[in-house]
Order: sequence, then structure tokens, then C-alpha cells
Amino acid sequence: MTRPTHALISRSALRHNYKVVQQVAPQSNNLAVVKANAYGHGAVVVAQILDPLVPAFGVACIEEAVELRNAGIQKPILLLEGIFSKDEVEIAAENNFWIMLDNLQQVSWLLQANVSSPIKTWLKVDTGMHRLGVQPEQVNDIFLTLTASSNVATDIVLATHFSSADEHQSRATELQLALFNQIKDKLAICLPDSAQISCSVANSAGLLDWPKARLDWNRAGFMLYGNSPLDSENSAADRLKPVMTLKSAIISIRDIAAGQSVGYSQAWTATRPSKIATVAIGYGDGYPRNAKSGTPTLVNGQKAPIAGRVSMDMLTIDITDIKDVNLGDEVILWGTGLPVNQIAECAGTIGYEALTRIPKRTPSIIVD
Ligand SMILES: Cc1ncc(COP(=O)(O)O)c(C=O)c1O
Repeated sequence: MTRPTHALISRSALRHNYKVVQQVAPQSNNLAVVKANAYGHGAVVVAQILDPLVPAFGVACIEEAVELRNAGIQKPILLLEGIFSKDEVEIAAENNFWIMLDNLQQVSWLLQANVSSPIKTWLKVDTGMHRLGVQPEQVNDIFLTLTASSNVATDIVLATHFSSADEHQSRATELQLALFNQIKDKLAICLPDSAQISCSVANSAGLLDWPKARLDWNRAGFMLYGNSPLDSENSAADRLKPVMTLKSAIISIRDIAAGQSVGYSQAWTATRPSKIATVAIGYGDGYPRNAKSGTPTLVNGQKAPIAGRVSMDMLTIDITDIKDVNLGDEVILWGTGLPVNQIAECAGTIGYEALTRIPKRTPSIIVD
């Protein structure tokens, strides 16, 4: 018998979510962001499923891109954080990795490198996130220098990243979009009349909630995995289907009297005679340790709240109000019917973090 703790990864949900992306932005090229092990879903598996559908992938760094190439992924791969040394320029050229240039150092590494073929290049400008990107006033000079370099492929993409697109109608996003458009217009003036500037600003939240952000290239991450990044209702987000279902099973059941406590630090105490089930999953499997008592799980389709602290390999749930529970019954920790965002909120975090923390220890099973 094997430990019943798994992350089920739904091929059909992933394909469906990518279709939602395409329906939302049918005129755009929509690349799939698969950094951080595809937000915990398994980068190779996710990229294999999406490879026939997408024009390109996005990862954080060259190591993640090399992993995908070694697994036979064919499509171009954009390095969203750019390069970390000059050597990476040559590796990028050999492997059809695209480079997002985030600062002047990366620009000079690209210009000085000795490459086998020109590299598709994205230039990120800081429009208000203040994390990465060149300054708005540097854009024209850098863009013209890149255009003149034989290391750089034609059709450079001008990009930026939003800080607050998940907040409906946020002023910060309006300002970022307005500044981006100004930067683009100023750049257009100094390019030949025929030159088109390709643009990319939207992440999942931009795609879903900011129609004006759907430009030549979008960079969808979180929504691909079936969850909404938004703080508001959205009809396209409602159509997304969770790709990961995190599940385990009950390995112990006991009755406790009112007044008895459960687990480390005796953090939960029964207020009535209670039935407690122990589930074979804990923070060592990626379930958030900070999930408080009361966080829901699903047992045979019925909600059962966590009772007590999450341990490394186990957690305990209150099944007093649930009928017909037996040893070995399946417990769903998140997925269909139990959004990861809801669990993350109970743990004081966000769905992105909860998914990304799924470790290698938790085996995945690809379904449908
Ligand atoms: C530059 C960039 N683009 C796109 C994304 C994808 O964002 P999301 O997962 O919100 O779609 C990220 C993720 O952090 C990013 O850093």
C-alpha cells in the first residue's frame, strides 16, 4: 500500500483554461507562464500538455528553461527575469530562449555576447511596480541600440508588469497603462514610419479584468491553473477549472469527550463529544501549516473543518457532523468544489503561494 497523498493534475482542465485565455484575448499571442514548477503543478508535465497549443512559454530563469528543453519542449521560452550572467546569452541563442531585458547590465551582456543567431528580445519598462525594468526615459535609446545590434532579432517586444491589476478598477493599473501608452507613443516617433512596436503588459489579472491591457502578447500564469487572481467577480474567471486537486485519505478515527484537545499545543478543544479523523497530509506535503482550525476539507463531498494544528505529515479534522466516514475515505484539501484561494485565505496567504509550495514529495497523478 502507498501513502494516499497526491496532487491530481487534470489535463482537460488545463487545456480548457488555456481556451478561456484565448477566448478572452483572441487577437493576442498568449504565452503560458510555467515558472516555479508551473506553480507547483509540474513544469514538464504542464508544458508537455500545452506545447501544441501555445506560441511560447514563460519561466523565471534559464535553469527552468533548460529543464523544459531537456524534456523535449519545442516552443520558444521567455526568461521573465532575464539573464543572470553574460554566458546565459549564448545558451539562450542556442536554445531559442527569449530574453526579457530588465536592466542596463542585461542589455550590455546581450550586446557584447558572441551569439550563433539573433535572440528575440523583450524590453521591460518600469511603469510603477518599481521592481524590475528600465526607466521610461531610457526606453528610446535602449530600443534603438537593440534594433541596431545583430544579436537582437527584429520585432522587439516592449513590456511592463502590473502591481495591482487584481484590484478591480485600481488607480495604479490605470496609471501604469497610461504611462505605458505614453512611452510607446514616444518610442514610435523615433522609429521609422513602417515600424510596429509589439507590446505586452497583461498577466492573468490584466487579461481578465483590463480589456485595454490585452495587447500583442499576454503572459497568463495563475489563471491557467484554474483559479482567479481577482478580488471581484468575473465571468471569464468563473469558467476556469482547478487543474490541481490535492487529496489524501483518513488513516485514523477516534471519539473524544468534550473538553479534550487535539494535536500540537492542544490548540483545538472539543466543545461537545466529537469524532476526529486524522488525514495523511501535512505541511511537509505542501498543505499550509498556518491553516487555522475551521479551514474546510471535503470528505465524501461534505465539508469537514480542520481541528488543531497542521503537523508535518498529518492533520486532524472534525467529522462529528459527517455521516458514514470510514478509514481510507478520501479527503480533498483543495481543487474542484474547494478553491485553493479559500484555503489560502484561511492560512493567511494567497492561492499562488499555496500551489507553488507543493513539494516533490507529493506525487502527482495526471488524470483525464
Ligand atoms: C513578468 C511576469 N509576467 C507574467 C506573470 C504571470 O502572472 P500571473 O500568474 O498573475 O498570471 C508573472 C508572474 O509573477 C510575471 O512575473
